[in-house]
Amino acid sequence: MKKILVVYHSRTGFTSTVARQIANACNADLESVKDIRRHCDRKTYIRLALEAAIHSDTVIRRVIHAPEDYDIVVIGTPIWCWNIASPVRAYIINHRHQLKRVAFFCTYGGSGHVKVMHDLEHLTGQTPMATLTLKDDDIKGDRYHILVSEFITILSHVIHP
Ligand SMILES: Cc1cc2nc3c(=O)[nH]c(=O)nc-3n(C[C@H](O)[C@H](O)[C@H](O)COP(=O)(O)O)c2cc1C
Repeated sequence: MKKILVVYHSRTGFTSTVARQIANACNADLESVKDIRRHCDRKTYIRLALEAAIHSDTVIRRVIHAPEDYDIVVIGTPIWCWNIASPVRAYIINHRHQLKRVAFFCTYGGSGHVKVMHDLEHLTGQTPMATLTLKDDDIKGDRYHILVSEFITILSHVIHP
């Protein structure tokens, strides 16, 4: 049976909510990418924004699932300063040669989603099977479930053509 892995980083829960919904619907495995540092001081937002903007290195914890074991790796990132969140960037850089096929989603407050989708494509070197971009306000309401369902349907067609 073909397998899907959903990889994401989430600081305040939006990306995690979407990742879990996708994983539940697709019977996929979940990989939460963790920065080895703690996010607890008031400077954190600025530090994270800067880190994402200048693409500085971030050290992430060792992953549980081997991405090469999966037919599709779904990569989910929050947008930080119009960029891929640095832990997700680190994951892609560490594992991009192990990714067979990819799909992307991002969560964001208001802007940067078009750029980040391009950045994900560029960084992985792959055209995604499906993409999904969701605003925080949509995730707080019910509307986003339809968009997630459409995304899952596309993935299902790739897995079961
Ligand atoms: C450091 C930082 C920078 C952010 N920069 C942006 C941005 O450029 N554009 C945007 O629309 N949202 C931005 N946001 C908002 C997050 O993308 C958004 O709240 C996202 O859903 C958070 O996901 P999470 O709850 O999984 O951590 C930023 C958030 C943080 C913490």
